[in-house]
Amino acid sequence: MNQAKPLKQKGIETIFPMKGDIPLSSFDLHTRVASELICDEARAWKPRGSDNVGIPKQMVPLEKYDVAAPFLSVPKLDEDGKKITFSEKATHWALQSLPFSDENKTWPSSTEAVKQIEIQYGDVLPKPNVRWEDTTSDHAMSLLTFQGLGAHRLERIEDDPDAAYRVDLSWMIAFPVREGFERYGACVFFDHNRQLVRIYTAYNDKTHYPSDNTWEAAKWCWRCSLFAGVTVADHLGSVHYLTANLLVTATREQLPTEHPFRRLLTPFIYGTVDVNRDAHMLLSREQGLVHRTFAFTYNGVVRCLLKGVESVRLQTFPETLAAAGTDSLGEQFPYAMDGLALYEVLEKYVRDYLAIYFPDDSAVEDPSIRHWWSALIKQAPNLGLTPLQTAEQLVRVTTHFMFTVTGLHGQVGDVIAYTRDPAFVGAKIKEGDTIGDVQSTVQLINLTVTTGLVQPAMIGDYRHTLPDKDKDQALLVFETYQQALKQLARDIDKRNLTREQPFQTFNPRTLNSSVSI
Ligand SMILES: [Fe+2]
Repeated sequence: MNQAKPLKQKGIETIFPMKGDIPLSSFDLHTRVASELICDEARAWKPRGSDNVGIPKQMVPLEKYDVAAPFLSVPKLDEDGKKITFSEKATHWALQSLPFSDENKTWPSSTEAVKQIEIQYGDVLPKPNVRWEDTTSDHAMSLLTFQGLGAHRLERIEDDPDAAYRVDLSWMIAFPVREGFERYGACVFFDHNRQLVRIYTAYNDKTHYPSDNTWEAAKWCWRCSLFAGVTVADHLGSVHYLTANLLVTATREQLPTEHPFRRLLTPFIYGTVDVNRDAHMLLSREQGLVHRTFAFTYNGVVRCLLKGVESVRLQTFPETLAAAGTDSLGEQFPYAMDGLALYEVLEKYVRDYLAIYFPDDSAVEDPSIRHWWSALIKQAPNLGLTPLQTAEQLVRVTTHFMFTVTGLHGQVGDVIAYTRDPAFVGAKIKEGDTIGDVQSTVQLINLTVTTGLVQPAMIGDYRHTLPDKDKDQALLVFETYQQALKQLARDIDKRNLTREQPFQTFNPRTLNSSVSI
């Protein structure tokens, strides 16, 4: 005989139903409401292009929200965005006030999970640039490291008899997690042939080998640590809250609206204030999406986030690779090969553009550029930025910012290829598990849906943002830059024909012009 469902349970399922057969707990009101709100936003989204990038309007001190006082604050109002309404603020507050619970319903299989996710979210989830057919084998771990989510953390090691490379996330052991979960933190080791040889898991201080019966769980522990560390420390902390925030704040507060340097930077700061403010409102607060999606206590969230913020040094992409010993591995390491090519395109654009308006070293004497530079040092003293003395310093720092908000942001933020399959990456670790639970999967999908909202692309017509002064020369340099991006896209397409799996992270055709998502 069917038993009548409790009234409360019936109500929630009716108001926030799941289309498919996702066995999400009936009482998990927060995950259901968040899913509904995020999917509604994605369905109503009007794709944005380069014409949405307006010309600068004002140079004023910006009002800010404290993210982690006194270290971190984000401006409130985007130049191209809209003021956040009272009702939106109330919705955010209401969402965060919903009960906080960790559920433990499990999927019957990863195949069933992928199928149900497609039914429920297929129309709003972005299409991945790379399809991972195999997500759990040792070989998939190697691809994930050399041309996937772990690539920017790859290091060469010299003093290990069995291993030549590692991605070390064992530092994450420091961050507390909620009861019922294991702490993050693991390190993977690969030999000269990119074969996975061993894994260290920090929570139990053990080293695992391929023949061990703990091997699959150790791989899962590292993949979860990777996803959590990259998302919270690298994506949210380093790229959004530190680098992109620094760039947009100094640019809007220090550079006059017609200034050629501000115009150069305009496409690279589009939407940054909006997205960082939303991240502050929805993601990084206590009981926000990050706190609920990952296993961290709130103290753990803040410490992981600040680790990302504090660890940023002004080290360019080529310098970072050289320091890690991974700059000359050729096709062994597509991440470096394609990334260096993108960096070169940006560097040439910056150098050619600045030469129009500031021949020789005259940029160094420009009062607005000097104010901009001083603001960087004042806002982020840990970067290690020295006083401005040469135009080459300005080229280096500007290229670094542009690369970070385009290419590196794609590397750490474009995660849909990973989150569609709960056996690939997860957000919480339970001892012995090798797949995410239902709640965790839906929470990850909620985080991922917003990354599919179409934003201004790197390859695009931004001629309207160039200054009126010396416009013909600026147009020529801009056109050369756009042609170089298109050529790089063709080069990467060609390289991908012979790669065992395509690598699209630095393909300019897949990149946005700023961190607007
Ligand atoms: Fe992002």
